[in-house]
Amino acid sequence: MTERELCAAAMAARQTAYAPYSGCLVGAALLTSSGKVYTGCNVENASYGATICAERTALSKAISEGERAFAAIAVAGGVGETVDGGFPPCGICRQVMAEFCTADFSVLVVTGTETYTAYRLGDLLPYAFDADAMQ
Ligand code: THU
Repeated sequence: MTERELCAAAMAARQTAYAPYSGCLVGAALLTSSGKVYTGCNVENASYGATICAERTALSKAISEGERAFAAIAVAGGVGETVDGGFPPCGICRQVMAEFCTADFSVLVVTGTETYTAYRLGDLLPYAFDADAMQ
């Protein structure tokens, strides 16, 4: 699975986004360390705070299937049909990623039809609050 293929899977996952309130269609594709891909989309709610982002949908699907080791996630977000500039993961999603993923985990933000920018989770969320902090 190449980075480009993971981005394409995230783009495809946008098609099932449920976003009647914001119109922001977001798809995510999460690659496990063993090479399996779990996709997810955002699922909005009339009670806006009950909305779940695409990244957490994908992570929850994978965790609930017993996965615990992850290599990368691609995120494709935009208003309506097109992705133009991309959606970086929100703070809650970065925190949830930090629960399960190392600082070297790759976050690929899809910026256009054929383009993406790669980040390290450790750069997106430095000094994350995690289990070590509660020792
Ligand atoms: N959204 C995501 O799915 N992922 C993010 O990281 C940022 C925001 C969704 C949530 C909501 O449905 C819409 O985008 C606008 O915030």
